[in-house]
Formats: sequence, C-alpha cells, structure tokens
Amino acid sequence: MKRLIGFIFSAALLFTGSAFAQQVNLLCSPDLAWCEQIGPAFEEATGIDLEFVRLSSSESLARLRAEAANPTFDVWFGGTGDPHLVAFTEGITEFYKPTVWDDLLSGLKNAVGETYIPLYTGAIGFVVNEGILAEVGAPVPQCWEDLVDPVYKGLLAMPNPNTSGTSYTIIATLIQIFGEEQAFEMLAAIHQNVAQYTRSGGAVGLLAGRGDVGVAIQFMHDGVKYVRQGFPVINIAPCEGTGFEIGGISLIKGAPHPDDALAFIEWALTPEAQAIAAQRGESFQVQSNANTPVPPESPDLSSINLIDYDFATFGSPEVRDRIVAKWTNEVFPVPRR
Ligand code: G6P
Repeated sequence: MKRLIGFIFSAALLFTGSAFAQQVNLLCSPDLAWCEQIGPAFEEATGIDLEFVRLSSSESLARLRAEAANPTFDVWFGGTGDPHLVAFTEGITEFYKPTVWDDLLSGLKNAVGETYIPLYTGAIGFVVNEGILAEVGAPVPQCWEDLVDPVYKGLLAMPNPNTSGTSYTIIATLIQIFGEEQAFEMLAAIHQNVAQYTRSGGAVGLLAGRGDVGVAIQFMHDGVKYVRQGFPVINIAPCEGTGFEIGGISLIKGAPHPDDALAFIEWALTPEAQAIAAQRGESFQVQSNANTPVPPESPDLSSINLIDYDFATFGSPEVRDRIVAKWTNEVFPVPRR
C-alpha cells in the first residue's frame, strides 16, 4: 500500500511537473547568431527554458498560417514587420502591450499602431564589393535606377520574397518610389542582372563579401556585420531614397505557454536583452527601446533619405500576397539571357 501511494505521489509530481513546465517556443527570424544568444540569456535571467526555430520572415508567416488552428509557437521574435502585420490582421497573433510600452520609440509605435510590438528598425541599401565591380569596370551603384544597367549582369544578389521579408521590403520600396508599373519593369531588368536569389535576407551580403557578386541588396545593418567580419564591402544608401523595416515581436494567439510567452516579451524589450543583438548577436539594427544604446557601428538613419513607408498598405494580406505572387509569376520565371 505504501509503495502504491508512493507511486501515485511520484506520478502526480511528474505530471504536475510537466504540466507546469516553464518553457517558451520561439519562432526567431533575425540573424541566426542573435537567435542563438537569446535562449541562454533568457534562461539565465528568468529560469524559463527556451527552444527556438530560425525561419526567415515570409517562411515564418507561411508556417504560422499553416498551424494557426493548432499553434506550436508562443512568440514570434524579429523579422520584418509587414508579415507581423499580416499575421495580426489574420488573427494569428494578438496585440499585447508590454510594460515598457512608453519607453519604445514613438515613431515606430505610431507607424504600426497596436498591432505588433516594434523590436528594431533599419534601412535597405546596397552592400557593395568595390574590387569585384572594378574588375569588370562597373561603377559603384548609387541609385536604384543604376541596378537595371546590363553592366551589372551576373553581379547582383537579392533574397527571394517567398521566403525573405527583406526581399519584400525591397520590392515594396521600389513600388513606393517608382509606382507599381515602373517598379516591376525595374525588377524584370534587375532579374536579368541577378546571379542568385537567396532564401534569407542576411545571406546576400556574404555573397558580396566573398566576391561571388559585386552588389547585395539587403539591410544596411547586415552590411555592417560583414564589414566587422573583415569582408571588403561598403554600404550605399540609394539616391532616390530607401525603405526601412520595423522589425516586430508578436504573441501567438493560442500560445501553448501564454504566461511564459509574456515573460519572454517583457524580457526581450528590456535594454539589457536588446543590447545582446549588437554585443553578441552580430546584429546592428536600431533597437526599439529608447534606453537601449544605439551601437556606434549602426547605419545613421537620420542621415539616410528614408521614404514615408506605408506599413498599413504593404502589410495588408491582400497587397502582400498579390505582390509576392506577381513577382513569382511574372519576374522570377523569365529566363536570364
Ligand atoms: C536580417 C536583418 C533583420 C531582418 C531580417 C529579415 O536578419 O538583420 O533586420 O529583420 O534579416 O530576415 P529575412 O530572412 O526574412 O529577410
């Protein structure tokens, strides 16, 4: 009898132990190096376990859409903002107002409203390997319109919008600067010059750094990472102006560990947690908490001609899905001559 009671008692302990296991399942979309630093730091600060999967922003949206009825993730951390907006509009995520809300940069909050929580910001540009361009006598591009010139044939790399949020930001930027018709003509001409479309937005700079291409179109703060890693690249801000992201953090609706999810969101928005990005995560965005120091290496956004990015329009499910499908059907399949 004693043994039976002991067995029941330990079985009950085991059950309560697992039912109340503290854990966060994180869908993580920034650079892998940053994602890898998050778990250990969060566990040290709170004692809560963290498991993560790294997927690019558009891939993350597809994954969250697919499992909306039975979510496995608690929090979506980082990645470009427009798919966070799509997920919110579709009821896949829900807005949570963190206690540090008043400390978050008001420009970022005003741009996206109470949909998702701004996590960081950064601008699109060209990450250029001057030596590779010099070898073929191609000038360093200064403007979006330069990229359509056949002199850059085989010298450009950009990510694919079906997987990458960076890529969608690039396409949405061109549409906002030039209008949709001209932007797609330019994308068709740029396609003729592209040597490789990558799955993630961060990867193109490595191609430029290694000299596989001369120009990578991506976030300029990713260019900073490659400069720091010793690659011979420079950042160029396009002359016509450029788009930017408001990277996000979102609570998944129906999160399996809702309390731990909120604990994570609260922690992730503290200056201490946000500083990890630049200190250990090789990520040089401007973080959303006004009390998080801006890394000295980060591109100075006040000196870049930023467009008045229309987040509501380009973060709507209809517009985003239509533009990605249009690029996929009309630009991507055209043979490169
Ligand atoms: C890089 C940038 C982030 C951006 C992310 C989007 O990691 O540093 O600022 O949010 O790319 O990733 P994706 O692979 O979706 O383009």
